[in-house]
Amino acid sequence: MKEKILITSGLPYANGPLHFGHIAGAYLPGDCYARFQRLLKNDVLYICGSDEYGVAITLSADLAGRTPKEHVDIFHHVNVGLFEKLNFSFDHFSRTTWEGHKQPVQQYFTDLFENGNIEPKVTDQLYSEEDGGFLADRYVVGTCPRCGYDQARGDECPQCGASYEATDLKNPKSKLTKAPLTLRQTKHWFILLDKFKERLSQWIESKEWKPNVVNFIKHYIRNLHPRAITRDSKWGVDIPLPNTEGKVLYVWFDAPIGYISSTMEWAQKIGDPEKWKEYWCDEKTKLVQFIGKDNIPFHAVIFPAMTMGQNQPFKLVDELPANEFYNLEGRKFSKSEGWYIDLEDFFSRYTADQIRYAIASNAPESSDSEFTWKDFQLRCNSELLGKYGNLVNRVLVFARNNCEGSIPQTLHVEEVDQEFLEQIKELVSQARESYQSFRLRRASQLIMELAQLGNVYFEKKSPWKDAKLDATRGKMETTIACCLECLKALALISYPIIPETASSVWKMLGNNESLETVGWETVMNTPLPTHQKLLEPTILFAKIEDEQIQQELDKLHQMSNTVEKEVSYTPLKQQIEFPDFEKLDLRVGIITSATALPKSKKLLQLQVDIGIDVRTVVSGISQHYQPEELIGKKVVVVANLKPAKLMGVESQGMILAGADEKALEVLSVQNLPKGSVVS
Ligand code: MF3
Ligand code: ZN
Repeated sequence: MKEKILITSGLPYANGPLHFGHIAGAYLPGDCYARFQRLLKNDVLYICGSDEYGVAITLSADLAGRTPKEHVDIFHHVNVGLFEKLNFSFDHFSRTTWEGHKQPVQQYFTDLFENGNIEPKVTDQLYSEEDGGFLADRYVVGTCPRCGYDQARGDECPQCGASYEATDLKNPKSKLTKAPLTLRQTKHWFILLDKFKERLSQWIESKEWKPNVVNFIKHYIRNLHPRAITRDSKWGVDIPLPNTEGKVLYVWFDAPIGYISSTMEWAQKIGDPEKWKEYWCDEKTKLVQFIGKDNIPFHAVIFPAMTMGQNQPFKLVDELPANEFYNLEGRKFSKSEGWYIDLEDFFSRYTADQIRYAIASNAPESSDSEFTWKDFQLRCNSELLGKYGNLVNRVLVFARNNCEGSIPQTLHVEEVDQEFLEQIKELVSQARESYQSFRLRRASQLIMELAQLGNVYFEKKSPWKDAKLDATRGKMETTIACCLECLKALALISYPIIPETASSVWKMLGNNESLETVGWETVMNTPLPTHQKLLEPTILFAKIEDEQIQQELDKLHQMSNTVEKEVSYTPLKQQIEFPDFEKLDLRVGIITSATALPKSKKLLQLQVDIGIDVRTVVSGISQHYQPEELIGKKVVVVANLKPAKLMGVESQGMILAGADEKALEVLSVQNLPKGSVVS
């Protein structure tokens, strides 16, 4: 039976070029799944688009001297270009600045509002006369309320690591105009997420998602509280209420509705404007949303809650394959730190299928993983070229020279051949299972197992010997026919990951209709027609030389060295005497529980067992760690720090962490037991 499957990949910000890290998380897995489901002849709609509002975008645009619209126009097209290079098969790729996006977003707000799920609240915010409005945290600099550093950011002090609300800064100033700021009252609207607790909890019970995802979500649901969904800004979707000039809906409110508006735009494009409802408003649709793990709360809790408050019966997510992070040679991809791969350059030397395969075979499915140039070379040379390419080439060349370039007859099927054909079927069905359950790593392995199976069979049957005598020609033909069946299966199961290569193998086998048109079942259940003409085999993959890889590595290190020289390090503090240092009592402690503090963006409440006793420690690390990641971690605790109240909770110590502008890492200990003294 045909299934209706609506597939989405997290809408990428149009705020800078995407890199392979993003591709590995939400995009390649989405595209492979869409291609797989199309092979199964399901009714697939694959939707995405650019996420174009929000303060991060206005700030980058301001800093670059562009209007926000100019800014998103640039990066929308850059990102579309990358997706094209990678052969992505979106049915539609929209943008949240599309005119038609407003209506469904405002309708979402209106329904929630009229159903009593949104309430206004007046708060104090920093206001700038000079900039003519309220400023978001990221636009504010000032003096740190804790250490007095005068270049502290709106949400965090780079000097001492303190986290606070922008309204706690002393001498707050505008980052752009340097104008002083004052406190003014402003009204914002909050979605009463706590009202959806019950329904969300019940709904999540039925999900068979990855256990860590489900646990994270359950924990998150328990701690739900009202959340602001409006901002003081001009860049965003207007609030559909009177007297709200200068305020817009928060980007995370409008963006997920972009999945729906993109589907609406698709329906208009194909000339059937109501057709989007067949996907979004039909309980039978299966909604599969591919995202990176940092997007889990919005897709698993907040957007579903927003949707539960609608008058229309929109679909809630059915499957939420959330991937971990994908790094580059041991570090995060970062353009500003020179730690990235120039994509123009990349695609001038390598193909989409090479990178698609390299990412898929090493996808960050159950833990973080990384791109390394060495791994890339190995995957391309010994797997794609050495196993896959080799089999295709030797079989097709042999068939051209010995079977008149067409599919031979199978008149002499022996047990080995029968067994070979069965093994092919078995691997194909395992591959199907793997794609169905979002396991691209496993699917990639199976592709290579199948290629290897073919290579071993070809060797074992040595058809070149049988080709010499008339008496054994029939046997040779059977061998080649079976090998061609193997190539057919190989094209089929590799199509989701390496579509270009798979399609060309499929064509070389003499097929005219595309793999998607014929479909998985038919491909597998119909042997290739005897006498069908084979095409001239072409080279599928080029070899990547060691020197080439060395050059890539040199380039990477060069880029990052050049950038690092420009980094300005925080100045050293005054010298201290040893007795000053000795006053510190540092202990190894083990984190036994971690929960987010309601109302705080940055604080986590931890229980840390330091042997002597168990401490409550409030720590400003929640933007860098999920609570679950911390449990069981052994950390270093400042154990004789005078307790202090933070957000109403007494914090009985500090845990040590290092940080720069972007990252924060809690110092941790491998082997020492809890209670050990650190000095
Ligand atoms: N732009 C966001 C990110 O890159 C993802 C938005 S997903 C959506 O993290 F659901 F909001 F669309
Ligand atoms: Zn400070």
